[in-house]
Amino acid sequence: MTENDTKCKLALIGCGGLGRVHAECISKIDGAAFSAYADIDQGAADRALADFGGDYATTDVAKVFEDPRIEAVYICTRHDSHASLAIDAARAGKHVLIEKPLALDMTDCEKVAATIRETGTVLMPAFKMRYYPLIRKAREFIPHPSIIVGQMMDNRWGDDNWAQDPIQGGANVHSQGCHTTDIIRYFSGSEPESIWAVGGMMTHPGHACIDQCVASIRFKSGCVASWVQGDSSCPPFTSKFFFQLYSADGRSVQLYDRLKKATFFDGEKTWTEVREDEEGFQLENEAFIKALSEGRQPALQVDDCIQATRIVLAADKAIRTGEVQNFTT
Ligand SMILES: NC(=O)c1ccc[n+]([C@@H]2O[C@H](COP(=O)([O-])OP(=O)(O)OC[C@H]3O[C@@H](n4cnc5c(N)ncnc54)[C@H](O)[C@@H]3O)[C@@H](O)[C@H]2O)c1
Repeated sequence: MTENDTKCKLALIGCGGLGRVHAECISKIDGAAFSAYADIDQGAADRALADFGGDYATTDVAKVFEDPRIEAVYICTRHDSHASLAIDAARAGKHVLIEKPLALDMTDCEKVAATIRETGTVLMPAFKMRYYPLIRKAREFIPHPSIIVGQMMDNRWGDDNWAQDPIQGGANVHSQGCHTTDIIRYFSGSEPESIWAVGGMMTHPGHACIDQCVASIRFKSGCVASWVQGDSSCPPFTSKFFFQLYSADGRSVQLYDRLKKATFFDGEKTWTEVREDEEGFQLENEAFIKALSEGRQPALQVDDCIQATRIVLAADKAIRTGEVQNFTT
């Protein structure tokens, strides 16, 4: 038996930019290895096999699902294929790490959730920000915030970027918003009660999908949040990712510089903690593999990606209707 035979065998579905980021992370983890690479583009699958090693590259995703040696699949395709691939994977008994968003509508999200529950498989959303150490520290410092600010702002996306496409991508708010709403929900320690939002197709006039969003969210805990998402420009001072937490007892924390810096204020003194590198991708992969090796569910599960997308979809509806949206679940 070779060392590779004892590793958790994985398959990568979608061998583009993000698939390759995950393959790089897995190459640094002892207990797991990609065995198979599947992509509708044979060249992309071949390149991943050549660069990261494994057993085969294919355009036939069914081959991966039928392979009894594969324990888990990574779904790193564009958004229109996430739900159907996740359902097929779970029905084949494979555990899933899925790139965001789970889907672009609630019907698909609920179908995935029902299949995961039926099959008892693991589905972990790839919300890398949850794994940044300073995000966790901020939550420990202010476990019950009164106010949360969450912002993710990019430079303007190209009109021909696939993520701008309404079917494959959904534009900035649908594509990336779930990262931000997941962290806001995580910081709140609660579930959303209502949301009011304004925005529209402001950086891409005439496009179908909302690209800028400014929302106010009330949580059941009583905490309120301000969420800003879009591609007007990436702010050089705060960076693309920016969060603030305030507590009613006078403490606050700001996260900035791509979540590598956090400045804490305890009511009297201020101090800043700095991380050298962005660790989210590596740590989320380690968390997934650890959960599989221990035969348990990871901390992040299907309900987390559903709630994150539910908030995004409610904001979309609030922007289009001009009405406050109340959450019933
Ligand atoms: N977590 C993050 O920070 C982050 C950052 C960027 C992208 N993403 C997400 O990663 C995913 C992939 O994005 P990307 O930038 O790598 O896109 P990409 O276009 O570079 O790669 C997608 C790959 O999937 C392949 N593909 C498409 N449909 C397929 C199918 N049905 N079966 C098999 N292969 C298929 C394409 O040929 C392509 O090689 C998206 O969900 C995106 O939102 C996440």
